[in-house]
Amino acid sequence: MLILGIDTSCDDTAAAIVEDGKKIISNVVSSQDEVHKKYGGIVPELASRRHIELIWPVIKETLRRGNISFDDIAAIAVTNGPGLIGSLLVGVCFAKSISFANQIPLVAVNHLEGHIHAVFLESSPDFPFIALIVSGGHTSLYRVDDFGVYKEIGRTRDDAAGEAYDKVAKLLGFGYPGGPIIDAVSLKGDPLAITFPKANLIGTCDFSFSGLKTAVMNYVRKHPGARKEDISASFQAAVIEVLIDRVSDAVKIEDVNKVILTGGVSANRTLREKMSCRASVDGFELYLPSMHLCTDNAAMVAAAGYHHFIKGNLAKYDLNPRAYLPLVSATG
Ligand code: KG4
Ligand code: ZN
Repeated sequence: MLILGIDTSCDDTAAAIVEDGKKIISNVVSSQDEVHKKYGGIVPELASRRHIELIWPVIKETLRRGNISFDDIAAIAVTNGPGLIGSLLVGVCFAKSISFANQIPLVAVNHLEGHIHAVFLESSPDFPFIALIVSGGHTSLYRVDDFGVYKEIGRTRDDAAGEAYDKVAKLLGFGYPGGPIIDAVSLKGDPLAITFPKANLIGTCDFSFSGLKTAVMNYVRKHPGARKEDISASFQAAVIEVLIDRVSDAVKIEDVNKVILTGGVSANRTLREKMSCRASVDGFELYLPSMHLCTDNAAMVAAAGYHHFIKGNLAKYDLNPRAYLPLVSATG
């Protein structure tokens, strides 16, 4: 059963075709980094305009690569939130149009649910597991008991980890997107050079990164000659330590022995390495999607959409995008 996934939640225009929620037939992501680079971050209005230009070429290319026509598609799964409202609107309107024109059922997918399903494109973890979604817009911990059964056990109180990466990169003059640049630069720096604050919100599995961001800013102002490699590595060490400690806490509190790491920041090499070490020490099984499935893509949306479709959770044509859309368990 083939599902066409569409994701335009942020600054990537993405479409993919996935078979039975597992096998990627084709997966196209058109990045807008060139558009936003000179501003040091995403300009929402430019992102939506670019999605309008790219959405049809990206979908056509996805069908072409898979040698598939609309007649072969069982359902269209589209991200309807959370994300940038103008960006989401393009994907949702387009999905509704092609669904209506070709009489193909429509399914709505929460972007966070999509990130969780990235792991099922390459492996099959047993339930229950802990999912750490760590991206530019989110840093959240869920307990996942089945397909569509989620319990939030922690979230950021302010900035997402990816946002902190992007802001610190901008501060250091590295450009956008900052995460991959800090990832690379940190390999040449000393993570012990500077001690940055690590928020520990006692009694919760919540996160906070805004204080860390401010601490880096203050440090840079006070020490203009400091090595950027050391600042990057020390900042990254603070983020990673907190992420790993909270996952380790969640595993113990929820008494589960499987963890999946997903979202753009989970492409970070040091995070992957250090989380793998903690998994061996604490004795939990760790599932890491390939790098290209960590960052935004529509294959993960098609995979999540498949499970909604087989349960009959179809969307209606009054489907609207939502900038804020908490991940809750499916009711169907
Ligand atoms: O999941 P994603 O593609 O989009 C959102 O849903 O937000 O995540 C994008 C975020 C950006 O903040 C980017 O800087 C960060 O993921 N990122 C990384 C790396 N690759 C992407 N952060 C740290 N290390 C990386 N290698
Ligand atoms: Zn994302």
